[in-house]
Amino acid sequence: MAKEEQYKELVAQVAAVVDGETDMIANMANVAAILHEAFGFWWTGFYRVDPSNSPTRREDIQELVLGPFQGPIACTRIPFGKGVCGTAWAKNETIIVPNVHEFAGHIACSSESNSEIVVPLRQNGEVIAVLDIDSKEFDTFDEIDKKYLEEIVELL
Ligand code: SME
Repeated sequence: MAKEEQYKELVAQVAAVVDGETDMIANMANVAAILHEAFGFWWTGFYRVDPSNSPTRREDIQELVLGPFQGPIACTRIPFGKGVCGTAWAKNETIIVPNVHEFAGHIACSSESNSEIVVPLRQNGEVIAVLDIDSKEFDTFDEIDKKYLEEIVELL
């Protein structure tokens, strides 16, 4: 099946799964599982803007904290503006990275990752989390992924 057709089915599946469920963590967990299973990505998951005052969080530093994901163990915290995730948060826009080794400041949670897409999840226009997907192949993500992944996070 062409990628676009597959995404159209996934958008409908996600809409059905999150329908009536208001818990964001539960919905993120299912979205990570749906995308990961469908495409066989290397790592698929969310980082949330940390709203807490955890001991590891300095008051003057805003951080993302690891959320629901599928795949190998990952870094738990990413500062605002750092890495692909922190940059997508700071810019409030989707970032496609064809080759992570050429992205200045890329945070390598795994040496197996070669390309990546990060999509911000917004509430009232403000970024509250990002969806991060890593691929073992170079140049995995394009405008089709961007379009449908943005549609999917809007359903959350
Ligand atoms: N590569 C990301 C860090 C998260 S891991 O890929 C799961 C980044 O540069 O922000």
